[in-house]
Amino acid sequence: MDRKLLRSQLKHTLESTNFQNQGELYKGKVRDNYIREDDTIMMVTSDRISAFDRVLGTIPFKGQCLVEIANWWFGETADIIANHVKSRPHPNVWEVRKCDPIPVEMVVRGYLTGVTSTSAWSAYEKGDRNFCGNELPDGMIKNQAFDEPIITPSTKAEQGAHDESVSPEELFKREIIDPDLYELLANYSLRLYNRGVELAAEKGMIFVDTKYEFGIYNGKIMLMDEVNTPDSSRYWIAESYPELFEQGKEPIKLDKEFLREWLANQGFTGDGDAPKLTDKIRIDIAEKYITLAEKFIGEPLKLDVGSTFDSIKSVVDPFDTF
Ligand SMILES: Nc1ncnc2c1ncn2[C@@H]1O[C@H](COP(=O)(O)OP(=O)(O)OP(=O)(O)O)[C@@H](O)[C@H]1O
Ligand SMILES: [Mg+2]
Repeated sequence: MDRKLLRSQLKHTLESTNFQNQGELYKGKVRDNYIREDDTIMMVTSDRISAFDRVLGTIPFKGQCLVEIANWWFGETADIIANHVKSRPHPNVWEVRKCDPIPVEMVVRGYLTGVTSTSAWSAYEKGDRNFCGNELPDGMIKNQAFDEPIITPSTKAEQGAHDESVSPEELFKREIIDPDLYELLANYSLRLYNRGVELAAEKGMIFVDTKYEFGIYNGKIMLMDEVNTPDSSRYWIAESYPELFEQGKEPIKLDKEFLREWLANQGFTGDGDAPKLTDKIRIDIAEKYITLAEKFIGEPLKLDVGSTFDSIKSVVDPFDTF
């Protein structure tokens, strides 16, 4: 990959937008959402990257990669469930159907892994054999596949707070979701995950785990937010996995875990001041996201060095003066 190109883009990344005439703005950690009056949202995927629920900086071309990857997967899963995308007026921008979000994140895991203190692996290592209602056998080791994928739902925390992994029973007790709707979502989630495993394998990757968000639109359950991106999922290179696993080594990763490990190595796992991202780590992460995007779309991404904000503005609202 052309690291010089990635380096030249460092100063042009899309940090934030503030369009005046696109509707009420709701900023997530990664997306700027403009809620329009016609039941749609203009969703601008920025280049911001978050880890441990904290925004830490920007990565060249990350927004474009995310939309590229999610678009591909939305297309490949449309026979399983309808999704929120209506159109893509710019590489970083979607027009989506505004759903009533179901306040549960459906996490599906095929492998026992993770670096954070709340990860499945950390809990298992400490002796916990029940993870969000799933009984786990003794004797498993890090990065080992489960016999069957498991679902470990989490609550969708308010802005600034951490999501919490809980059992389905706990969700029912807190009246966050009712059992019938949960069953439907669990079923969709497993089908989506299994499709992910199958298609990632064709591209030489292991689809390790992921998170799905659903909403209700016109009385119908819909897949919303993003799908199977390296922000919401883990991907490992399949070819080298068995040997590395045998040797007790970490797999080669094409996702955000790389950043989590970089942060954890410097003692940051979510509390206190986060280390500043270096140019090198920003370029390394860009390389991973672009590599993954290109594996899926099967051709080189069109990457234009220059202000992503200006190019979005010229499509979305050339006359906005702010
Ligand atoms: N079609 C949709 N209708 C309504 N809300 C949606 C839709 N798709 C995604 N969302 C919500 O919009 C936000 C997307 O922004 P982003 O992914 O940056 O947020 P986040 O940081 O993951 O979450 P948070 O909102 O908790 O900060 C999320 O809150 C997501 O749940
Ligand atoms: Mg999100």
